[in-house]
Amino acid sequence: MPVEKSVVEALNVHMGREFEAHLQYLSVSSWFDAEGLPELTKFFAAQAAEEHMHATKILTYVQDVGGPVVIPALAAPKASFESAEEAVAGCLEWEENITAHIHALVDLATSKNDHATQVFLQWYVTEQVEEIATMSELLQVTRRAGESNLLLLEDYVARLAPAA
Ligand code: FEO
Repeated sequence: MPVEKSVVEALNVHMGREFEAHLQYLSVSSWFDAEGLPELTKFFAAQAAEEHMHATKILTYVQDVGGPVVIPALAAPKASFESAEEAVAGCLEWEENITAHIHALVDLATSKNDHATQVFLQWYVTEQVEEIATMSELLQVTRRAGESNLLLLEDYVARLAPAA
């Protein structure tokens, strides 16, 4: 099934953003590990695994529509943070950015009358609603707990664990 070159190129670029999100979450997870907060470490490692799945799902789709798969150069993730709030706020900002790009991809597929890609992308549209909600609430709880009470944040994240 033919998918226009411009759509394939845009999907490849977006696959790169999802791989970057994977690396960014691994980096945030490692920062929390260094801070001695094991539940946050696990939570962000799980987020990283989800982002890897988001990227490879696009990779498989591009393969299925005939490619070519072109994995772009990836930016290095941010490695250190001033505070838990800065780390979590950065993740929310990242998710908002990803969401805007997903919506732009849907607009592109729509403008090309590309029904298959539109349907494929709907999963991401829904997924982003959940990701933004999760990260917004985490930021809210981070601020409420405060930097000197991050063990409260650990408890909150531990209770989230089955869903995360
Ligand atoms: Fe795959 Fe969290 O965006």
